Amino acid sequence: MNVLVINGPNLNMLGIREKHIYGTQTYENLKDRITDYCEKEQITVEIFQSNHEGALVDKIQSAYFSQIDGIVINPAAYTHTSVAILDALKAVQIPAVEVHLSDISSREDFRQISYAGMACEKTIVGKGFDGYIEALKYLKNRHQ
Ligand code: DQA
Repeated sequence: MNVLVINGPNLNMLGIREKHIYGTQTYENLKDRITDYCEKEQITVEIFQSNHEGALVDKIQSAYFSQIDGIVINPAAYTHTSVAILDALKAVQIPAVEVHLSDISSREDFRQISYAGMACEKTIVGKGFDGYIEALKYLKNRHQ
């Protein structure tokens, strides 16, 4: 099974940014956690991060042409603004799970809308790195 994990802006700053919200573990730690899990579960994974909306759209589109079976996406701030990411997810019609490290439902009003989430089968919030593992599990079970 082939899975693409996509992370949006500022997630490369994990371990530096707002530690009281996102914790002290780094983006490298997150990648290691995902890679280890995927190796164990025989999932082929690509992990992609960008601070640029168009690059995220390009990556979602590329999944259509590279036999990707599932997408895990944390669009970060673009969650709450990007119709382009929503449209890209709708265009490729690949099962997708939205993940947020923090519980966006208990944060500011402007975080209460998720455009990307409208094209995702499942949303996982507030579970930190475990949320990514839960998303991968969901996609694997769904694929079997
Ligand atoms: C986030 C939540 C977003 O609201 C925020 O802009 C982020 C990270 C999360 O993982 O909790 O950058 O997606």
